[in-house]
Amino acid sequence: PVVTSKVTFEVNGQSRSLELDTRTTLLDALREHLRLTGTKKGCDHGQCGACTVIVDGRRINACLTLAVMNEGAKITTIEGLGTPEKLHPMQAAFVKHDGYQCGYCTPGQICSAVAMLDEAKAGIPSHVTEDLTARTRLSVDEMRERMSGNICRCGAYSNIMDAIGEVAGGVA
Ligand code: FES
Ligand code: FES
Repeated sequence: PVVTSKVTFEVNGQSRSLELDTRTTLLDALREHLRLTGTKKGCDHGQCGACTVIVDGRRINACLTLAVMNEGAKITTIEGLGTPEKLHPMQAAFVKHDGYQCGYCTPGQICSAVAMLDEAKAGIPSHVTEDLTARTRLSVDEMRERMSGNICRCGAYSNIMDAIGEVAGGVA
């Protein structure tokens, strides 16, 4: 028998309650139940980053977490970052630098990049550098490392890095 459970979380500033099969991933809850299809499903097993959303300030792969595990969480998807009329600075930079080709990876890239810069500002280390406290700007290598969970099958990486670098205030 299917076991269902109620889950309530905040999505893009709005409280949402769903009665879900407990096996439903956060990704499917967003896409199939809340019709927020900006978040993409690429691999559905944690390898591509297309499903990246921001949960309580941290970027996560929405395909790797069950919706019911996010009770009470604050979730931001690409739809909550900005609108066509009022783009988030990261969205505007991706447009300016052509940081995409087909666009399938783009919502995940943008959500990941926004949270990545917050991580870097907070001094959370990457594998490339242990200590950010002395620097305010990221190196290209470090940005690449920090963004390595987001795959772009079109290979738009250099433009993606240009976009993120601009929002980061230039690269070291
Ligand atoms: Fe989640 Fe690929 S769809 S990482
Ligand atoms: Fe096509 Fe990245 S723009 S997958």
